[in-house]
Amino acid sequence: MDRNLSIEAMRVTEAAALYAARLVGRGDEENSHLAAVRGIERALIGFAIDGRIVIGEDDVDGSPVHTGCTLGDAERPEAVDIAIKPIEGSTPCATGGPNAISVVAFAEKGGLLPAPKVYMEKLAVGPEAAGVCSLQLSVEENLRRLADAKAKYVEDLTVVVLDRPRNERYIDAVRKVGARIQLIGDGDVSGAVATAFDHTGVDMLLGIGGAREGVLAAVGLKCLRGDFQGRFVIQGGDDQVKLAEVNLADTQRIWQRDELARGQVMFAATGITDGQLLRGVRFESGGARTFSLAMRSKSGTVRFIETTHRFDLQPVYE
Ligand code: FBP
Repeated sequence: MDRNLSIEAMRVTEAAALYAARLVGRGDEENSHLAAVRGIERALIGFAIDGRIVIGEDDVDGSPVHTGCTLGDAERPEAVDIAIKPIEGSTPCATGGPNAISVVAFAEKGGLLPAPKVYMEKLAVGPEAAGVCSLQLSVEENLRRLADAKAKYVEDLTVVVLDRPRNERYIDAVRKVGARIQLIGDGDVSGAVATAFDHTGVDMLLGIGGAREGVLAAVGLKCLRGDFQGRFVIQGGDDQVKLAEVNLADTQRIWQRDELARGQVMFAATGITDGQLLRGVRFESGGARTFSLAMRSKSGTVRFIETTHRFDLQPVYE
């Protein structure tokens, strides 16, 4: 992947965010979703890649970003694997809550682990602590190591955890050690990637969330030289079957960042609502403003991009 596709990818997440942002707070997850997909469809016109969606949408009939679909122009030399979530955080999008983003990741062909829609135990940290923490260690040991690596007091560390009953044991363990916790309702891709940025105040993401979101987070953290580990977790009745179908049935195995996201990867995300990582879409006189992150592992370049969209010159909703 020689070309930097992250900027082109960002145009896709910008479009999804703009379309979804119109429906923020309307209590309508389904239509927000369809709107984001419509935005993506528009942005994909003329998209010059030969892409295969390894992680996409399975629930939306006719979605252009259904898992298994191909995208772009097969005549093009750039063969990429794609993971895409038009809206990561459907509930906050529908309620106007924090942390809804649109996100896409690219990897070399065969580079993304084709995780099914199951759960994953996750541990994410920024670059200072890469190789220092592990899902094999206790929460206490991980926090002590993280504190050492970041030259911080354990009590000053902030751990993001998805607020779910299944994560109570992580919450209890972090509290026992005395570190701070930020419980999030949704959006653990943002939470994981936020660990690599000082300005977010987030030091670690811990707990069980979506496995596909784990792959997206691994891509983001690879670009940032942070660390991510994941282990599949069986929660629902057919999770074991879904994992077995893609030969990922080993729930003891800890997947390292570079096994989830192999080779060169790229990541782009745009905020829909305000969150730890990105601001949400602002509608302003004559148009809107979006806040995005575009990065690639090869160069390590990280771009925070604020884009002004002028609806008179480029009407987005027609
Ligand atoms: P959506 O798929 O509804 O947008 O939610 C995203 C998310 O909050 C992820 O960030 C997280 O990994 C996963 O859902 C958690 O799943 P669940 O809500 O089933 O606990």
